[in-house]
Amino acid sequence: MAAPARAPTAGLFLLCCAALAGAAVYVLHDEGGLGPEFDGIGGLSGGGATSRLLVNYQEPYRSQILDYLFKPNFGASLHILKVEIGGDAQTTDGTEPSHMHYEDDENYFRGYEWWLMKEAKKRNPNIKLIGLPWAFPAWIGRGESSPYSYPDRTAYYISSWIHGAKLYHNLDIDYVGIWNERSYDKKYILVLRQSLDKVGLKNVGIIAADGSWGIANDLIVDPYLSDAVEIIGAHYPGTVSSSNARKTGKKLWSSEDYSTVDNNVGGGCWARILNQNYVNGNMTSTIAWNLLASYYKELPFGLDGLMTADEPWSGHYEVQSPIWITAHTTQFTQPGWHYLKTVGHLEKGGSYVALTDGKGNLTIIVETMTHDHSICIRPPLPPFKVFQQKATFQLLGSFKQIETLKVWHTKFDFYKNSSKFFSQHSDIKLVNGSFSMPLEVDEIWTMTTISTGKRGSFPEPPPSSSFPKDYADDFNVKIPPFSEAPNFADQTGVFEYFMNYSDPGDHVFTLRQVVTQRPITWASDADQTISVIGDYKWQDVNITCDVLIETASTGGVFIAGRVNKGGGLIRHAEGLYYWIFADGNYKVTNDLPGNTVLASGKSGTRAGKWHTLTLRIQGDLAYGLLNGCLLWKDVRVVHPRNGWAAIGTRGFELAQFDNFHIQAS
Ligand SMILES: *[C@@H]1O[C@H](CO)[C@@H](O)[C@H](O)[C@H]1NC(C)=O
Ligand SMILES: *[C@@H]1O[C@H](CO)[C@@H](O)[C@H](O)[C@H]1NC(C)=O
Ligand SMILES: *[C@@H]1O[C@H](CO)[C@@H](O)[C@H](O)[C@H]1NC(C)=O
Ligand SMILES: *[C@@H]1O[C@H](CO)[C@@H](O)[C@H](O)[C@H]1NC(C)=O
Ligand SMILES: *[C@@H]1O[C@H](CO)[C@@H](O)[C@H](O)[C@H]1NC(C)=O
Ligand SMILES: *[C@@H]1O[C@H](CO)[C@@H](O)[C@H](O)[C@H]1NC(C)=O
Repeated sequence: MAAPARAPTAGLFLLCCAALAGAAVYVLHDEGGLGPEFDGIGGLSGGGATSRLLVNYQEPYRSQILDYLFKPNFGASLHILKVEIGGDAQTTDGTEPSHMHYEDDENYFRGYEWWLMKEAKKRNPNIKLIGLPWAFPAWIGRGESSPYSYPDRTAYYISSWIHGAKLYHNLDIDYVGIWNERSYDKKYILVLRQSLDKVGLKNVGIIAADGSWGIANDLIVDPYLSDAVEIIGAHYPGTVSSSNARKTGKKLWSSEDYSTVDNNVGGGCWARILNQNYVNGNMTSTIAWNLLASYYKELPFGLDGLMTADEPWSGHYEVQSPIWITAHTTQFTQPGWHYLKTVGHLEKGGSYVALTDGKGNLTIIVETMTHDHSICIRPPLPPFKVFQQKATFQLLGSFKQIETLKVWHTKFDFYKNSSKFFSQHSDIKLVNGSFSMPLEVDEIWTMTTISTGKRGSFPEPPPSSSFPKDYADDFNVKIPPFSEAPNFADQTGVFEYFMNYSDPGDHVFTLRQVVTQRPITWASDADQTISVIGDYKWQDVNITCDVLIETASTGGVFIAGRVNKGGGLIRHAEGLYYWIFADGNYKVTNDLPGNTVLASGKSGTRAGKWHTLTLRIQGDLAYGLLNGCLLWKDVRVVHPRNGWAAIGTRGFELAQFDNFHIQAS
């Protein structure tokens, strides 16, 4: 008999002797070969603008957040980073800029995904990179709403992004996708494969089609298509794959999964699917939407993310359970390891997987998540039961000689508020390759030969605080670190730093809306462009901004307060919008589309001339100034009572903004 392992946490549990009465026996071995290659666990930045606020964090907090996500043997230690290939359109929590706004335009320094990929690589040079488009600039489709009408153009656009990643950032993109959660086109996939091969990007694998398993039906009957596709990626598969998907012999990935209403409790769902996507569905990679909840909380899916960092102004961030659940797998495995064939369900609910590097290392991950603690948003699950139980693991084959295993443990208990994530327990001593353990419900255990695991930590970040009540930005950044001004969250259109050295006055550095045609959209973009900023709870605000309409006769711009919707609901955003137009008129509306007009009249405004707009909202009343003079007053604003501040344009048109200032009470 082995001596029982010493229990560092006051004997709450017992990892014990070779035989535990009533324990079910699970044999783990590699006799007769290994199972499929494991491809890693990932996080998804984008789809869309989900990392928007991260870039504006001060150091050291920004680096700390990145360490929790990417640094090996520290936190989530992710194996894969998947990013959106920005397409200038709304893709859930905002828009991300395209590297080609127009046909004759190319710029590989827009947005923050390049930066994020470099930060990830800095920490883990082996991290795999994936790019996937959600939306496309209009020129791709020559006015049509599909990216497949001119497959050569789309393939050129996508391969340019991959090429630019290498040329300007020395980033090797490992995989590229088709069109997120939209139709795929067989011809386009073939054209994309040929284009990649032609420009020396043979090593970039195609993942298709980031939707259902449906594409497998086509791969089975079309050998050319099958050759072009390296990986079948499905979204929110509910841990199962289709039989045709398995028949293709392709690698199967859950290329987007997780999605929780609240990442404080979301770790339970993540733990269950990380094991069961393989056990039930033969999937060898799972990628979380999203990487980091780094966008205003009141946008859709506010607390979805492996952790939360949505307060660059305070430096506050929160490391939630999904980070530690990820660590249970990522810190003790690597892409290129193999699953053992001996994996499965536990007798009384829950699951176990085992992986090896083929050189003697073994990692076993066991989860006993109950239904109540592991519900993801999608898909709905029938209730399932998991009970307290005992397990004996018998190691055979090359693992028979293993004498000790390191042990990491998580216990969820939200009801008692006593969850404990990723703590190391004392080693298990195996007897004749065997060990037994009692399993409580809602636990995750990792037993491993890898000794480098670590629960990384930093001193507590600053406390949470609300967005500053007095906030100004003159956009005078000579060498902007990013193309977007801090804290502005574009919801339709793209607002970028702009420099006009021929400007004689103080408008050399401005913020410019640059999308001039409705993109091939993914969500319901508004017909107007809009970027929101500030605190959603704000009620009484003073907003001042210099504005330049660039489009003669039809152009127009606005500033707004109490903007109450964003993301895919942006078309329906209400608030108080103060517009001026190139035709010499102004308008005050209660909504973004301008259906409810509260006031209107002559303003004498025109294109090509800077104007200063001031909007004051106090209680039920609002008034507006133009160039410092009262233009309209006593406009009643009963609804909404609160919301963000915003700037924007009448349509997809160029316009500039400068000397933005908000005061809120
Ligand atoms: C371990 O295996 C050896 C040889 O098969 C056997 O003699 C011994 O009793 C076993 N020990 C335990 C604790 O089961
Ligand atoms: C999928 O997994 C099941 C259960 O582990 C296994 O029996 C089957 O062979 C696997 N199928 C493929 C195609 O890998
Ligand atoms: C296990 O992995 C470690 C570190 O990755 C390596 O040094 C070691 O040689 C591997 N094999 C065994 C049997 O531990
Ligand atoms: C849960 O416990 C933590 C300390 O472990 C405490 O800070 C927090 O306020 C508790 N939450 C609730 C809802 O009781
Ligand atoms: C740049 O400034 C010059 C001089 O004021 C002006 O004529 C021109 O329209 C400006 N260009 C843009 C794009 O704003
Ligand atoms: C807005 O400006 C007016 C006039 O200066 C002032 O009375 C009011 O307090 C200001 N409101 C806020 C929220 O700062």
